[in-house]
Amino acid sequence: MKKDHFISPRIIEAELAEAREIAEQLEKRGLTGDRAPGYYIQTFGCQQNEADSETLAGLAETMGYRRVLSPSDAKLILVNTCAIREHAEKRALSIIGEYKHVRENDPELIIGVGGCMVTQRSRADKFKTSYPYVSFTFDTGSIHSVPSLVKAAMEKKKRSFVIGDEYKISEGLPVSRSSGHSAWLSIMYGCNNFCSYCIVPYVRGRERSRLADDVVEDARRLVADGAKEITLLGQNVNSYGLDLEDQGGIASIMRRICEIEGDFRLKFMTSHPKDASDALIEAVASEDKIVKQFHLPVQSGSDDVLRRMNRKYTTEHYLGRIEKIKKACPDITLTTDIIVGFPGETDEDFRMTTDLLREVGYDMAFSFIYSPREGTPAAKMEEQIDKSVATSRLQKLIALQDEISVKRNSRFIGRTLRLLADEVSRTDENMLTGRGQPARPVHFAGDKSLIGRFADVEITSAGSYSIEGILKK
Ligand code: SAH
Ligand code: SF4
Ligand code: F3S
Repeated sequence: MKKDHFISPRIIEAELAEAREIAEQLEKRGLTGDRAPGYYIQTFGCQQNEADSETLAGLAETMGYRRVLSPSDAKLILVNTCAIREHAEKRALSIIGEYKHVRENDPELIIGVGGCMVTQRSRADKFKTSYPYVSFTFDTGSIHSVPSLVKAAMEKKKRSFVIGDEYKISEGLPVSRSSGHSAWLSIMYGCNNFCSYCIVPYVRGRERSRLADDVVEDARRLVADGAKEITLLGQNVNSYGLDLEDQGGIASIMRRICEIEGDFRLKFMTSHPKDASDALIEAVASEDKIVKQFHLPVQSGSDDVLRRMNRKYTTEHYLGRIEKIKKACPDITLTTDIIVGFPGETDEDFRMTTDLLREVGYDMAFSFIYSPREGTPAAKMEEQIDKSVATSRLQKLIALQDEISVKRNSRFIGRTLRLLADEVSRTDENMLTGRGQPARPVHFAGDKSLIGRFADVEITSAGSYSIEGILKK
């Protein structure tokens, strides 16, 4: 084990002591229970950020704050940002801009901004100079420092803009989960792949895996607490354990979690095609608790583009993995990510992507227009693609995937699926949405009391986006 793999337990304990001290001070002022100051967390980006925000919530609660549903009721606002595309950064800036007015009404309000966006020096500097009402920013490796940052802000000490050069694992931080029945479980952090378009390796550091025993213990606790679904998370979840000795890989940790007694199911994301091992595919196919889904981002169907993206696989390798998955698990739900308009992408390259979409027959694809990210090699490549060309390719891709999705979703019609009743439908309060193997949520009539429980639902109709069914029992 590398000695510097984890943040020292002493540092974590010191931060937790700061957090408890803040709580004690609030208590002395009678600010507990309903009178406790509110905290509000705004999260952008991927599931990893959702999981990190649950740790931020855990820290806020240790500091004696209580969750509120509106930023205007909060005394502490934490924003967890994303930097994956320009749009994500713009949205965060616009929301943070709105908090200016909240702060004007309450000079004691503390606003902290963390996450991938402010792990870039230029962005942290921008907050320092142009957002005077932001008390502090913190990088993705410094979530544990939030109690001392809040304390400094309370004591009106200097504003802080933390960007370290170390990304370590912090074990032992409190977590306050937002969803009772579906749980995120981070098993590794960071990325070593440096795809030429992607900001993640620069803002999340190198790959580091948690110890297998710690992960399994967390999973055991989640199941005991009533979680019905656990999603294992990592930027490259299937390289889990490659940076450590003796911890096993993703397949072995998933099999260990499946041995935990209880009625729950297991998911994992996101996998890189180069590390989609036979062992993982076999585990997905054979373990009943693992949902029969595989998210395997391909990004492009052109070998030329894949090479310039530094994806480290060819379409031949990718399609070989897909073939292996389909053979092991013929009913698998396959999903992917695609980037259109990567620098130099020709009409012919794009045609190869649509061909690959047809050949694989994904249940669903997340498609994005390439967004240049400062500091990445692709941003400096010549032949940046015109926005209108990229938009038109995106529209074609979405239309094609819609056709494919209808066909794929239709295979469930007449079948009874075991779904996890997730929430009341946003459009009809008598309907629930349930999730399971289909890539899209399933809508069915049912009582709210079913939420958080498994339900057998017979699928009656399926479009590209919406699937409907009736409750069997
Ligand atoms: N680690 C995962 C996913 C990371 S981000 C993986 O490698 O698959 C999720 C998706 O965002 C990526 O799969 C990619 O399709 C997209 N993405 C990443 N950087 C992008 C950029 N600069 N422009 C547009 N899309 C991007
Ligand atoms: Fe980004 Fe590539 Fe790493 Fe995924 S594998 S996070 S796309 S660099
Ligand atoms: Fe965004 Fe960071 Fe996730 S850039 S997609 S929040 S890892």
